[in-house]
Amino acid sequence: MDCAAFPMHPKMDEQLARTFAANEEEEERHIQKVQNAFLYYGPYACQRLKRSVDYLNSLSAEDQIMLAKYRGHLECVRTCIDRNQAVIREILRERVLYPPEETGENPSAGRWEFDEPPPNVRHGDMDQAQSTLKLIARDWSTDGALEREQSYKPIIDSIVEYYKPGDYELKEIKILVPGAGLGRLTYELACLGYSCEGNEFSYFMLIASNFVLNLCDYENKYVLYPWVHQYVNNLRREDQVTAVRFPDVCPLKNPPKGHFEIAAGDFLEVYKTPNAYNCVATCFFIDCANNVIDFIRTIYKILVPGGIWVNLGPLLYHYSDVSGQNSIEPTFEDLCIIMESVGFVIEKSRTGIRTKYAQNPSSMKQSEYQSLFWVCRKPDPFEEQRGKRKASREPHDLIVREDSEEEVEQQQQQQERAEKHPEQEQQQLKLQATSNDETEMEAQPT
Ligand SMILES: C[S@@+](CC[C@H](N)C(=O)[O-])C[C@H]1O[C@@H](n2cnc3c(N)ncnc32)[C@H](O)[C@@H]1O
Repeated sequence: MDCAAFPMHPKMDEQLARTFAANEEEEERHIQKVQNAFLYYGPYACQRLKRSVDYLNSLSAEDQIMLAKYRGHLECVRTCIDRNQAVIREILRERVLYPPEETGENPSAGRWEFDEPPPNVRHGDMDQAQSTLKLIARDWSTDGALEREQSYKPIIDSIVEYYKPGDYELKEIKILVPGAGLGRLTYELACLGYSCEGNEFSYFMLIASNFVLNLCDYENKYVLYPWVHQYVNNLRREDQVTAVRFPDVCPLKNPPKGHFEIAAGDFLEVYKTPNAYNCVATCFFIDCANNVIDFIRTIYKILVPGGIWVNLGPLLYHYSDVSGQNSIEPTFEDLCIIMESVGFVIEKSRTGIRTKYAQNPSSMKQSEYQSLFWVCRKPDPFEEQRGKRKASREPHDLIVREDSEEEVEQQQQQQERAEKHPEQEQQQLKLQATSNDETEMEAQPT
């Protein structure tokens, strides 16, 4: 399987290749920093743990007696951190690109440990190392199945509906997944037979996805403790130290039917060729831009006429309030205007799709997004001239929850019944309202 975590993007044009070569040293330093952050994971996590242990030790004997089980739990936390670090070392083992920098580590022992924080590694990098573990759980464990159902299924269903397996030679349908993260959505689409390319610029993601996609040789081989850094909102001690096995499917043993590759690089830098993809699928991605219009323009440009853009996610706007970063935060209403102005036809749009993202299922604190979902089409002037497809623009600046045909039909039937037998219908509606209340929670995510 071609998971090009480190090599240059195959479609990189000459000019870009020159820029890359010029930046090679910088790139090398960056990858080294990511490796160092991964290697410093354990000591960093243990520093936090030590704060609790030190305070516990300073408490009165009476308090310490009551906290005996809690003390045992903190020892267990320490063990989980060590085990996480061991898996991280496995992740790095096969693909250590650059030798570690000078300080503190001991590569000859096979265990690289830093006594001091590695140079250039910041708290933000350590956060990313920790969230990589949570994202492995989201994408590649059975524990992440619900999140994947909420986020990836609507995207996959729409693509299958638009590019129906019976109507198309699927390997001819080229799908790009920018911001591919750990690659599961891209993999699932490739398993259906589409020709898929994920794109990702974070080396935390690229190194971890390369491991799952190319180096794990059987299902559930590895165990991680992704919630071990969460010291608060735990109901039971075991919730903090819950084990998560991965990968729930082994891509090596189950290679996708369709072409599959992951391309490293910044979406805006790498994708410049017009009319190259039949579909762009974005999940929790478009709010990763300084200026979301740049993403939307690029997506429009690289789609073939008649191609679709399927999106799901919130508008978190990752650069909002990050010092030194520019950011604008257009609302969904604004995005509708932008998408149509760029040239897209909004075929379908929904609000309020309940989606969790890398959530600890046992935590007392649960947050979820009321995500947006849409399917946009880049119009094909020839097709439209031939009247094959009619443009179905929704009005500007309007948030519409599109009712399905079935729902419209039901509403019409209800209207007719209400006109004929008003009292009976009133009674029926009351009954329906009670049962809808019960089912809506379950029905919502899909
Ligand atoms: C919020 S995560 C979503 C990951 C995945 N799609 C999912 O749903 O789990 C956004 C991802 O986009 C990547 N990303 C952000 N900006 C990018 C860019 N300009 N080019 C490529 N990847 C980018 C980030 O590194 C991150 O992995």
